[in-house]
Amino acid sequence: MTQQRIAIIGAGPSGIAQLRAFESAKEKGAAIPEIVCFEKQDDWGGQWNYSWRTGTDKYGEPVHSSMYRNLWSNGPKEVLEFADYTFDEHFGKPISSYPPREVLWDYIDGRVKQSDVKKLVRFATVVRWVEYDENTEMFSVTVEDLRTGETETSEFTHVIVGSGHFSFPNYPDFDGIETFPGVVNHAHDFRGAESFANQDVLMIGASYSAEDIGSQAYKMGARSVTMSYRSAPMGYDWPEGIEEQPAIRTIDGNTVHFTNGVSKDFHAIILCTGYLHHYPFLPSELALHSSNNIYPEHLYQGVVSEVNNKLFWLGAQDQWLTFNMFDAQAWFVRDVILGRIELPSLDEQRAHMATWRKRFDAMETADDQIDFQTDYVRDLISQTDYPMFDLHEVADILKGWVQDKKRDIMGYRNATYRSVMTGTMAAKHHTEWINELDSSLERYLNDPESDEVRDIWEGREAVQRR
Ligand SMILES: Cc1cc2nc3c(=O)[nH]c(=O)nc-3n(C[C@H](O)[C@H](O)[C@H](O)COP(=O)(O)OP(=O)(O)OC[C@H]3O[C@@H](n4cnc5c(N)ncnc54)[C@H](O)[C@@H]3O)c2cc1C
Ligand SMILES: NC(=O)c1ccc[n+]([C@@H]2O[C@H](COP(=O)([O-])OP(=O)(O)OC[C@H]3O[C@@H](n4cnc5c(N)ncnc54)[C@H](OP(=O)(O)O)[C@@H]3O)[C@@H](O)[C@H]2O)c1
Repeated sequence: MTQQRIAIIGAGPSGIAQLRAFESAKEKGAAIPEIVCFEKQDDWGGQWNYSWRTGTDKYGEPVHSSMYRNLWSNGPKEVLEFADYTFDEHFGKPISSYPPREVLWDYIDGRVKQSDVKKLVRFATVVRWVEYDENTEMFSVTVEDLRTGETETSEFTHVIVGSGHFSFPNYPDFDGIETFPGVVNHAHDFRGAESFANQDVLMIGASYSAEDIGSQAYKMGARSVTMSYRSAPMGYDWPEGIEEQPAIRTIDGNTVHFTNGVSKDFHAIILCTGYLHHYPFLPSELALHSSNNIYPEHLYQGVVSEVNNKLFWLGAQDQWLTFNMFDAQAWFVRDVILGRIELPSLDEQRAHMATWRKRFDAMETADDQIDFQTDYVRDLISQTDYPMFDLHEVADILKGWVQDKKRDIMGYRNATYRSVMTGTMAAKHHTEWINELDSSLERYLNDPESDEVRDIWEGREAVQRR
């Protein structure tokens, strides 16, 4: 039998989950194959490895992360907690339910930094091309070492794609946008809203990026924030200064005309129009072609490529759950590779996918999506030795989160939840999100003695009120 050799593309939370899955089997005495993880950045963490750069990175590669300086988790941490490494274990004390990105990066890193798996990652190494040879039944993977510029091709029995799908911006065109004299950016390139103070800004889109970047702009003192929706408004009870408008009819200089006849002048436009599933290192027959949804087609169990059962995807879904879903997927993929899970025939795989797809097509509400994804994760975990946890409780937290946002879109991050893994109640953060101008790990973890940031905020409020 050919010696197994596994390529993992990307060391974001998904790629790290895969490394951890194999490590966990090894700790329990299993023989594991040779593994090489290729990561084009200098460090791991994927989206959570924040970069101030936009456009291209220091190697001339497209910048991966779409995160911004003051990004805080937009979902409760209790729904993403690792079952084998809890927040209590990492921080040694309860923390709040919505941490900023540095804190979550620290948590992801903490689980694996003590182990040997970092040695398996070739950093600053980008995967350029993957090919499958039907005769040898091997993948050849061509990579470039970005530090030396050298390319090399080597053979693998299995390839696991964990390159993420929130990096390549979806850039629709809008009539007249080329005449707009202000800043036009995609959310991918947004890094901070400070420059929007006293400006009128337009977000195009009606999903998480529009909601959160719009809220950032409001927080940083934008004069007005407008969000333009294509299908349906988000419908939150926005504070004064934020409004939703329907689609754009045309743009003429600074003036944007919406389809309902309303026109308004803006200083800046941010396209919060989502991302493309884009895999420039894969030939089209192996690539995944999908919109951003929770059940992309042609993936058995959401991870095994239908066209080649030795090619796997992690985190390809739109995500109500993240880190623990990637774990569930990685443990499943590991067990397929180790021969602990036998894949059924192609017809059976298709029948299985069709059943889930039928349920997917029938979904109407956010609660339906939450139940779908938590059921999916429960199903995966039940097939491996990943520690099972109460996914009904996770679903309840997510449904509560949806309601919290409806009640108070600027205040939902002040809510606290109980850990599904440990039962620990989250701590209340020392400063309400709307008043918190410092998103650093240091400030987050330490109660500030004198709250300078709050003083500044209150000073600014006073100026605005005058
Ligand atoms: C703006 C934003 C905010 C988010 N906020 C939250 C949040 O609050 N909570 C939450 O749970 N989730 C959030 N997410 C979801 C996020 O996608 C997941 O948390 C998680 O980062 C996905 O992990 P991943 O490993 O699948 O992909 P990624 O994190 O995207 O990592 C993919 C990795 O693959 C590498 N890579 C890509 N192409 C190549 C290549 N050709 N060769 C080598 N390496 C490559 C990249 O450099 C990267 O390190 C957010 C996403 C975005 C875009
Ligand atoms: N703080 C945070 O944690 C945070 C912040 C931002 C983003 N995120 C994460 O980032 C990921 C991506 O979110 P996202 O909001 O960028 O993408 P998304 O959820 O895929 O939403 C894309 C939006 O763009 C709209 N759109 C697409 N094409 C359009 C067009 N031609 N005209 C007008 N609107 C168009 C879509 O409208 P339709 O509804 O009509 O399709 C949709 O509202 C999510 O996982 C999210 O959780 C997290």
